[in-house]
Amino acid sequence: MTTLFDPLTLGAFTTSNRIYMSPLTRARAGRDAVPTPLMVEYYRQRATAGLIISEGTGISRQGLGWINAPGIWNEAQIEGWKPITKAVHDKGGKIVCQLWHMGRLVHSSTTGEQPVAPSISTAPDYIHTYEGKKPYEEARALRIDELPGIIADYAKAAQNAIKAGFDGIQIHSANGYLLDEFLRDGCNHRTDQYGGSPENRMRLLREVTEAIIKVIGADRVGVRLSPNGRVQGNDDSNPEAIFVPTAKMLQDIGIAWLELRESGAHSSFAGDEPTTQPKLSPKIRKVFTNPLVLNQDYTVAGAKEAVMEGRADAISFGRWYIANPDLVRRLKDNLPIQKDDSKLWYGAEHGAKGYIDYPFIAP
Ligand SMILES: Cc1cc2nc3c(=O)[nH]c(=O)nc-3n(C[C@H](O)[C@H](O)[C@H](O)COP(=O)(O)O)c2cc1C
Repeated sequence: MTTLFDPLTLGAFTTSNRIYMSPLTRARAGRDAVPTPLMVEYYRQRATAGLIISEGTGISRQGLGWINAPGIWNEAQIEGWKPITKAVHDKGGKIVCQLWHMGRLVHSSTTGEQPVAPSISTAPDYIHTYEGKKPYEEARALRIDELPGIIADYAKAAQNAIKAGFDGIQIHSANGYLLDEFLRDGCNHRTDQYGGSPENRMRLLREVTEAIIKVIGADRVGVRLSPNGRVQGNDDSNPEAIFVPTAKMLQDIGIAWLELRESGAHSSFAGDEPTTQPKLSPKIRKVFTNPLVLNQDYTVAGAKEAVMEGRADAISFGRWYIANPDLVRRLKDNLPIQKDDSKLWYGAEHGAKGYIDYPFIAP
């Protein structure tokens, strides 16, 4: 009988348990998107997770609109990540870099150019910029001749991640960012070979994944999808028709693992709308046979059962990892789970507060 505390092999490496830290943007990097010493301590504290998936990390200036989020497109950023991956490895942990192009969810005051997306569109709500909260701007549709450049940015970022000491990468293809905008028909209205049929809409993800595999090998590549619900204004009229074939495509090209962020009918995130779209993980499990990691709103019992019953190979936790650096110990010994303070989720101005000051259980 498999438990959360058993090791799991993800392609090129083995994680010591199946309690993973999901990617969490915390906005404690510099304005130049270089990781800071504070981040070294934050990740070190969480190194007992079987796997740490890093916060969303920009593959290019065009793709990074979160203020104070880190990047991995230049040498200074690679150098900034090195002490982080070393700190995690020194404590016996594993860490992969989540590669992020935010598509239309950026602002020109941060990226220096108009946002880009598969089709002309404007995201709902507001974005935080260095000059305060602003409405999203209209994104322009990417020309087909620009896509090879974006694919090359992903491949370079993956190579940089390995140089920085990461064990692998996760392609962020979830949550309404660029690759998810291409997958779902809520944002993708293209009429060329990147729009229309599911095969066309998954083409960019396939090409990005193949380009990354060429430079770092399939056994170091994972992907994150959010197959149901409406996320940051993006959704799909028939999620099963796009996400089950996408998962099959990813299995066929041999990625090492897949993570799904799935919303229940009622997500516990304050801003999320309820969804009637069912979770697709049971169907995806049938076509994606490499390790499957499930996420969102897992309870202790729910996580244990999902792994025991073989519905998932591992569970990733987001908010619990914000407030419980020693989550593995807490789950193992049935100790209380601390509550995170959402006011301190993001922001360089908070610094250590709500970031590296959550207490550990005494040894
Ligand atoms: C503060 C915060 C930042 C997040 N940043 C990211 C991110 O950078 N990339 C990503 O894919 N998901 C991100 N997420 C989503 C989480 O990885 C996770 O899917 C979500 O919190 C649900 O899991 P949970 O119920 O265990 O918290 C973020 C969530 C929170 C609360």
